Amino acid sequence: MKEIKDRILNDLNENIKKVANIQEFQVLKSKFLGKKGEISNLMKEISKIDKDKRKEFGAFVNSIKKEAEEILEEAFLNLKKKLKEEEEKKNWVDITLPGAKRRIGYEHILKQTIREIYDIFSSMGYKIVEGPEIETTWHNFDALNTPDWHPARDMQDTFYIKDNIILRTHTSPVQVRTMLNNEPPLAIISPGRVYRKDEPDATHSPAFNQVEGLYIDKNVTVGHLKATLERFLTMYFGGSRKVLLRPSYFPFVEPGYEVDVDCMFCGGKGCNVCKGTGWIEILGAGLVHPNVLKNVGYDPDEWQGFAFGTGVERIAMLKHGISDMREFYKNDMRFLGL
Ligand code: PHE
Repeated sequence: MKEIKDRILNDLNENIKKVANIQEFQVLKSKFLGKKGEISNLMKEISKIDKDKRKEFGAFVNSIKKEAEEILEEAFLNLKKKLKEEEEKKNWVDITLPGAKRRIGYEHILKQTIREIYDIFSSMGYKIVEGPEIETTWHNFDALNTPDWHPARDMQDTFYIKDNIILRTHTSPVQVRTMLNNEPPLAIISPGRVYRKDEPDATHSPAFNQVEGLYIDKNVTVGHLKATLERFLTMYFGGSRKVLLRPSYFPFVEPGYEVDVDCMFCGGKGCNVCKGTGWIEILGAGLVHPNVLKNVGYDPDEWQGFAFGTGVERIAMLKHGISDMREFYKNDMRFLGL
């Protein structure tokens, strides 16, 4: 009888080593303990055994069953542990690895620049105003003292939509629109896109951005204009900036100026950015022409004002050291992440 027990349990021990998963375990378990399993078959033998030996045989079969159950129980626990370890190994993640970085978007430099200009002027009490990019020739030229025979009109030739409807060539028509709709005094700036028939190159684009400024009050002088621009350019470029007003001509101002700022790269000594002059041209400006005031219904004897216009790309290029204007429009992520 001992041999039977040894055979069955050895057989079980041998087979249990090969079990690799729960299904295989269940098959093996029922082979030994199931209704048609080896141990059950032995149980069935009990009836055939002599009565006086039955008890002993029963106890013998039970002892095999009990040992087999113990072996299976232990094997089951080991199998579960092994499977769990394998699973953990497979799903292992190194929590010390750096996470996947998400790129964070940036505000476009032109938008940043417009916002900076707005912050500076709003600190001086200016309001932001916007005007249409599709404009009438009257707002863009005539009201600004530039009738259709005027040579200055050719200098800003643009895209005509109809005879009297154009893509605006500058933000100055917003001066006209603001004055027509508001009573003086006024202090506004107006950022926006403008259009000119220019070939694109490093410093020209057929569509670019300007910021217009307009201040209307009583007894306004060139001194106010100069101080305002000095303050703007100092706050925008940093340091302490000087402003040079060079007489120039724009039909809608009198007197009119090209405005230079002392070179922020060499402090005015002369370098290749300022072409050795110590000055960088940065704005057009002047006192609002009496004809413009009359065109919008203001009395030039009572009200005066100054106006200026600057290129957003131009001042952003100077501040950020950008040498080609076309970079602004290319949407190259390396440039935009500047
Ligand atoms: N509108 C002018 C330009 O585009 C700039 C300017 C604005 C000049 C206001 C004087 C006053 O060149």
